[in-house]
Amino acid sequence: MRFFVTAAKGTEPALRDELRELRLPRVRADRGGVHFEGELADAARACLWTRVGVRVLLELASFEARDADALYEGARAIEWHTWMTPRTTLAVRATCRSSQLTHSQFVAQRTKDAVVDALRDRFGARPSVERDDPDVGISVHLVKDLATLYLDVGGASLHERGWRGAAGEAPLRETLAAAVVRLSGWDRERPLVDPMCGAGTIAIEAAAWARRLAPGLSRERFGFERWATHGDTERRGIAGLRAEARAAALPGGPEVYARDVDPKALALTERNAAAAGVTLVVERRDVRDLEPRVPPGFVVTNPPYGERLDASFDLYDGMARALRAARGHTVAVLAGSPALGRAMRREPDRYWILYNGPIECRLLVYAIA
Ligand SMILES: C[S@@+](CC[C@H](N)C(=O)[O-])C[C@H]1O[C@@H](n2cnc3c(N)ncnc32)[C@H](O)[C@@H]1O
Repeated sequence: MRFFVTAAKGTEPALRDELRELRLPRVRADRGGVHFEGELADAARACLWTRVGVRVLLELASFEARDADALYEGARAIEWHTWMTPRTTLAVRATCRSSQLTHSQFVAQRTKDAVVDALRDRFGARPSVERDDPDVGISVHLVKDLATLYLDVGGASLHERGWRGAAGEAPLRETLAAAVVRLSGWDRERPLVDPMCGAGTIAIEAAAWARRLAPGLSRERFGFERWATHGDTERRGIAGLRAEARAAALPGGPEVYARDVDPKALALTERNAAAAGVTLVVERRDVRDLEPRVPPGFVVTNPPYGERLDASFDLYDGMARALRAARGHTVAVLAGSPALGRAMRREPDRYWILYNGPIECRLLVYAIA
């Protein structure tokens, strides 16, 4: 079986490394995600363990679809009855890029018609659409007139780990935060500090990764557990994988510090960390007061970037001064504005272009000698 795990733009290398570490077969990075091949049990493992991946998709078919009829015929030819019955609910999502068909909603609608018609022909009854919590999630990716149809193995966006309460100011998605921590080069042994932690996403993802806490364990059931193919053997298989994941958790990890000037942000961080089952050192402190209280390790952070750049200037200048003085640290800054990089007054040793939703950001990594 061929699978494709989607990821935020720019985070594909982090996801590729993560899936290789999970020893999934034939891992290959591509635009927007990473391919691998294997059994459904491999995809179940990916759902349980990926921190960077957003959706784990099973490829069903790929065909040329220059117009609506070709899309409909191609989709209808798939043996949907393998996965679904008239009692399974479904939802279709679509994305289009560089294709003659440009309206993703229309593409989703025509695909849905094809699935429903195919099942009605087979069973004499049609399944219904359930947008919010479908039994079977179908994804269509249309790229250069090539349609690829997938089933959503996880059943939902995997960035939801079940620990986030109310979001703070501009929180990062958990999957992006996990990618940032990985790309920073952190070894999961030295201390890590996020001096502008907001709701704590970076610190929590770092601590959970260090403790080998499987992010998918919080999910009651994955998409594939609601497919028509899910029988006793499969039930035993996923129960075994969940037990293995629970047993893999380490009791402790390195110190992870979460700091912010805003007490409300720190309260959120405390609550989120408790819900995620990780321990952080939560402290109210100004980023400009970073050095020398942190033992050498990693500083990974996502500073605010706003419209009021003059107001940010003092902050950026002071922050950059503190970060440049953090001798022996590796500093990774997810910068949504070029002003931040300029304030550092030196080239980063490495950088990545990542997308925080539609916002192009740079992850700037500096080894401070
Ligand atoms: C973009 S948010 C961080 C969001 C965080 N990554 C998350 O996922 O929730 C930036 C944070 O920087 C904090 N902040 C602003 N000025 C600060 C300063 N001088 N020292 C420390 N934190 C500061 C804000 O309170 C805010 O929580």
